Amino acid sequence: MLTRLFSPIRIGNLTSKNRLLMSAMSINFGVDENCCVTDQLVEYFVERAKGGVGMMLVGGGSVHPGGQELPDLPQMYNDSCIPALKDMVQRVKAYDVLFGVQLMHGGRQSYLPQKVAPSAIPAPAVVKGEVRALEIAEIKELASCFGDSARRCRDSGFDFVELHGAHGYLINQFLAPNSNIRTDEYGGSFENRSRFLFEIIEDIQTKTGKDFPIGIRINGNDYIENGWELKDTVRLAPLLEKAGIAYLHVSGGVYGSTELTIPSMYTPHGCFVHLAEEVKKHVQIPVVTVGRIKYPEHAESIISEGKADMVAFGRSFLADPYYPEKARKGEFAKIRPCIGCCLGCIHAVLAKEPGSCVVNPGVGREYKLKDEKLPSRLQTILIAGAGPAGLAAARQFALKGHKVVVCEKKQDSGGLLSLAAKAPGRGELDDILNFFRKELDALGVEIRHNTELSLDLIHEIQADQVILATGSMPDMPVIKGLFQTKMNLVTNVDVMSGKEAVGKNVIVLGGGMTGLITADFLADQGKKVVVLNRKKSFAEEMSSNDRYYLRERLKKGKVVLYKNVSIRQFTDDGVVFKANGEEITFTGFDAVVISEKQSSIRDAKDLEKMTSVKFHLIGDAKSPRHLMYCISEAEEIADSI
Ligand SMILES: Cc1cc2nc3c(=O)[nH]c(=O)nc-3n(C[C@H](O)[C@H](O)[C@H](O)COP(=O)(O)O)c2cc1C
Ligand code: SF4
Repeated sequence: MLTRLFSPIRIGNLTSKNRLLMSAMSINFGVDENCCVTDQLVEYFVERAKGGVGMMLVGGGSVHPGGQELPDLPQMYNDSCIPALKDMVQRVKAYDVLFGVQLMHGGRQSYLPQKVAPSAIPAPAVVKGEVRALEIAEIKELASCFGDSARRCRDSGFDFVELHGAHGYLINQFLAPNSNIRTDEYGGSFENRSRFLFEIIEDIQTKTGKDFPIGIRINGNDYIENGWELKDTVRLAPLLEKAGIAYLHVSGGVYGSTELTIPSMYTPHGCFVHLAEEVKKHVQIPVVTVGRIKYPEHAESIISEGKADMVAFGRSFLADPYYPEKARKGEFAKIRPCIGCCLGCIHAVLAKEPGSCVVNPGVGREYKLKDEKLPSRLQTILIAGAGPAGLAAARQFALKGHKVVVCEKKQDSGGLLSLAAKAPGRGELDDILNFFRKELDALGVEIRHNTELSLDLIHEIQADQVILATGSMPDMPVIKGLFQTKMNLVTNVDVMSGKEAVGKNVIVLGGGMTGLITADFLADQGKKVVVLNRKKSFAEEMSSNDRYYLRERLKKGKVVLYKNVSIRQFTDDGVVFKANGEEITFTGFDAVVISEKQSSIRDAKDLEKMTSVKFHLIGDAKSPRHLMYCISEAEEIADSI
């Protein structure tokens, strides 16, 4: 029983029914052309309110058009936003949740081409464009914009606001010495750098009254040179408490930091908890922690050990809106797990696309899904292949009430994803496979292992539809000398499945995600690894957050990477290639691991001609791509039949 996590807590003059907070996420959908919220955003929040969370935040509430972080975020800078916000609050608050807005100005981290900031210093990463230093009058006006926006939130019925003072956005830019080199009353000393924040708080309190709760998200560490540090947060926290702040939400990282705000699967769980723990020693108001807190038991232990008073979850609530309720009931295995890939969520929004989730394609589609009807005719569905696409399709068909049988040629389920999960730091990929396996078990879906799709099977179970989720396999390229070499010639699948030993010195051909994680897998075993990538960039199909940690690992493992490679020929024990205009010869290698293109496995499609049953292709069998397509196509096909 998670007694501490599900105990109530006072936040200012409010009471949250539990200690779970859905952190602000700029999801980049659900607004109209004037950035007023639409049904899409409302239903996204309604779904999560139904899921049982205690407190919830709208992300990216823009206080000024010139500080919009991303194009499709809700605006709070004009009274015209109020009617739609009121409607949203009314519909969301039907589900016993404290509902707030995070107010922010992006400053130099805005997506806009022309940005303002304390000083004319561009952000070190992610965004490009011109940055202009704010005039004093503009700073005062912006403080007042925060106040006006908070007033609009209160008038719309929200319970509280949170100021975004973290992650390198405008307030954080004022606080941090590396982004604020002003010499007036807003720069220099600690007091001057925090002046903007206190002026904002005062302006809000004047406009909303002091009883309207204000929380603050603040970095415990920017993790960047000459940035804001834990000692600064510890110094500021009691001052914020004195100013009447209702809670402190401690996070970390800015654009370009060494530890990322939204860490990928390589990062330990609870990576910022130590920051909240330290801040908590210096204040009485509730302190919230965040960052890769994935398992409910972990959240419970953070609170029971006194490290924080509340736990915020971001991506876990994208992956499963009903996480809180399932955790409360102790149904941990039913929680659809975030796998920390960062691809469907933050990678998408930073590319200015709508946010989604690799394991939950329903994100952003809640307003469509709520009116979905169950199928009028239940059918028998035969799914060939128990990789992620097959398992996801089986679950979705079974949830709709269809009878589902899965046949899998191999002894085990999981397909190539279970091999990818063997690479260092990527074990969490297994979590989603285990989730599907348990769901199928509970739904009574039969999986026949060591069983190929056949006409006999189609007839035996009297299938109405056949779904081919038979996956893909590595392609062998035709390159001079490759088939004559004395080196061991293997594929990434052979290596990851432990079928083939490769010796000490290895060439990996291919710099996509599979090539790099295979290289990491080998380097982790102490092998000397060279990656030859014939493309111009590495692992483009990964999110930049996930790729960042992998690149750091490859550096530590001394893996040598070449891109834009043109191979002259493979030799008996090496390779001759051209890269960066230079011809390079390597000798003394033991193996070449092929990890370039994948080909769909579709042999079973031939059976379609011999039966009247309709066949459908999904996932890699349709076209080899990443997990996001596998799961979304699986759910789509089940929803369409
Ligand atoms: C798509 C996306 C958008 C985000 N936008 C915001 C934001 O607007 N404000 C903010 O404070 N944090 C934002 N975050 C960070 C999250 O609130 C959270 O701190 C982070 O994801 C780490 O927590 P988690 O591991 O539980 O996801 C965003 C995260 C994601 C995935
Ligand atoms: S896209 Fe990946 S990291 Fe983002 S919420 Fe979904 S599973 Fe988690």
